Amino acid sequence: MTEKFENIEPNFNFTGKTALITGAAQGVGAAIAKLIHKGGGRVAITDIDEAGAVNLAETLDPTNTSTIGIKLDVREKDDFLAASNQVVKKWGKVDIVVNNAGYAKRTPVNDISADEFDSIVAINMRSVFFSCQHFAEHMKKNGYGRIINITSLAGQNGGTVASAHYSASKAGAIMLSKYFARYLAGTGVTVNAIAPGPISTAKQRLSSEQISAVENQVPVGRFMETSEIATTAALLASEQGGFFMGATLDMNGGLYLR
Ligand SMILES: NC(=O)c1ccc[n+]([C@@H]2O[C@H](COP(=O)([O-])OP(=O)(O)OC[C@H]3O[C@@H](n4cnc5c(N)ncnc54)[C@H](O)[C@@H]3O)[C@@H](O)[C@H]2O)c1
Repeated sequence: MTEKFENIEPNFNFTGKTALITGAAQGVGAAIAKLIHKGGGRVAITDIDEAGAVNLAETLDPTNTSTIGIKLDVREKDDFLAASNQVVKKWGKVDIVVNNAGYAKRTPVNDISADEFDSIVAINMRSVFFSCQHFAEHMKKNGYGRIINITSLAGQNGGTVASAHYSASKAGAIMLSKYFARYLAGTGVTVNAIAPGPISTAKQRLSSEQISAVENQVPVGRFMETSEIATTAALLASEQGGFFMGATLDMNGGLYLR
């Protein structure tokens, strides 16, 4: 039997806080941006899709007082630095970073080329490294920060339908979350990961047979809604989330128990 999901929006208080979210023009990133903004936070909506980022920023706040849309390709270290400078110029600091941008390519293992392997790692793992490398120092100086990395169930157990390079890159992102958590311990900055199973955003890339197959496989009988992962990200991003450190929060509907 499929579990029923009722969307009750939680209330978090992000007054006075500034968040930068990658891959936030749509999907999970957009849901996280909306929830932090709803809680009174200022949000930098960044994405490789600049028009999409600017559009969401203007939808949330047509005056762009509490939002800004920025082009940020997470494969480029310089894009992180430029976006960070832009946000600091506008609002003074960055308190929360959500490394959400990611890309899954379902290439059969024997067809994965060196270039494709490197490009998937650059989007899903090297991006997390450059982001943490930069924002760790910025947040350390401020004595406060929250970094949340959106990884994947695939990075824990290989996933349900995930490819080799995607799974490996997400495993790397989980380990970087632990590395930077240890590096930043005691500075007021926390680093944590969320490892989602199938999210409703994936449905657009699947046939109805594939959607049913996933629903049958997930013990709770459905895909996760973006509002659910946004709620967990907001908890980790909140001041009350300060005792989560180097954790990987499983959100997989019971697919993987450890
Ligand atoms: N959808 C799922 O079932 C699922 C499951 C587990 C983990 N995840 C992870 O959750 C995160 C969000 O997934 P989603 O379903 O919302 O994805 P999505 O495809 O709906 O959105 C991804 C966003 O990232 C942006 N993006 C892609 N490449 C980028 C780059 N190089 N630089 C900056 N932005 C880029 C896209 O423009 C898009 O706006 C990803 O890290 C994904 O790997 C998703």
